[in-house]
Amino acid sequence: MSEQKYLHLNNGLKMPILGYGTWMASEEEITVAVNEALEIGYRHIDTAPVYLNEKAIGNVLQEWLSAGKVKRSSLFVTTKLPPPGNKPDLVESTLRKSLADLQLDYVDLYLIHTPFTVMLDENGEFKRYEDGTIMVDPSTDHAAIWKEMEGLVAKGLAKSIGISNFNLQQIERLRKHCTIQPQVLQIEYHIYLQQPELIEYCKASDIAITAYSPLGSKGVGALNKMVGVERELPDLLEVPEVKQIAKKYHKSAAQVLLRWIVEKGLSVIPKSTNSKRMRENKDIFDFKLSPEEIEQLNKLDANVRVVDFAFFKGVEKHPEFPF
Ligand code: A2P
Repeated sequence: MSEQKYLHLNNGLKMPILGYGTWMASEEEITVAVNEALEIGYRHIDTAPVYLNEKAIGNVLQEWLSAGKVKRSSLFVTTKLPPPGNKPDLVESTLRKSLADLQLDYVDLYLIHTPFTVMLDENGEFKRYEDGTIMVDPSTDHAAIWKEMEGLVAKGLAKSIGISNFNLQQIERLRKHCTIQPQVLQIEYHIYLQQPELIEYCKASDIAITAYSPLGSKGVGALNKMVGVERELPDLLEVPEVKQIAKKYHKSAAQVLLRWIVEKGLSVIPKSTNSKRMRENKDIFDFKLSPEEIEQLNKLDANVRVVDFAFFKGVEKHPEFPF
């Protein structure tokens, strides 16, 4: 079945619909996994400094590029301005650090990772109160940060720019101050968190959407536990409607969850470090859900957010905390 596998961005560039997510993978794991992802044919790689794996990813990319196994122009690499970098004077130097770690001259997409800003201590770690909660910097100015993001495009350091974890009001406000409109919004998106108003707004505004945690990011449970938060997370792979549709098409539950997102015209970045599952997640272009099946899954929306930043205890106090 032949179909469009790219999203066309509002600046005329294109982004592969299916990407490879790298959150919650150690440097050792990601070195093996990114090699495997490239072998399998993933060309859209999503990372961020807060994932602590840009250097490892950079080494793999460099090996592939210098061996001529892949052309830079056929890769789509996204990274993000981390929460401590949310200050106009830090934008360019923060991207330059990512570029050095990734061993690239430019990224295809640079996103403001979160609308809130946190402080760093003298060791470069998140600054914390005695009880361990993170100190926020409330002086965040999205319009001023965005102006610097636009400067990165002018300098050729980022081909496209966008935002992540912003809510509708924050995007609306930011757009009034843009010379370059955001190309992409990256948000948590899956059957239990569909955010129809936000999606409609972005579609009407020609902002492409990337869905993170499409399979429900079960690893968040462990992160939450580390800060003493016990929260039952939904298991999207066990939802009866999903399993039933999967059975009909001889596909896995994960493939149905990903296919449903792609059919909505969103880009999606599942993470796996398991070779079999990485192949499975890429193999979603040979079947199609019926309108009834799409509707059946649409009805499962429950406004359940997995990545609520509980593991970044303290950030909810920031005036721009979005949720
Ligand atoms: P693993 O890396 O061991 O495959 P998300 O993309 O929503 O963040 O979800 C990632 C989680 O889902 C990881 O725990 C990953 O584990 C698991 N996962 C990824 N792909 C699949 C799949 N096809 N089937 C089952 N679990 C998957």
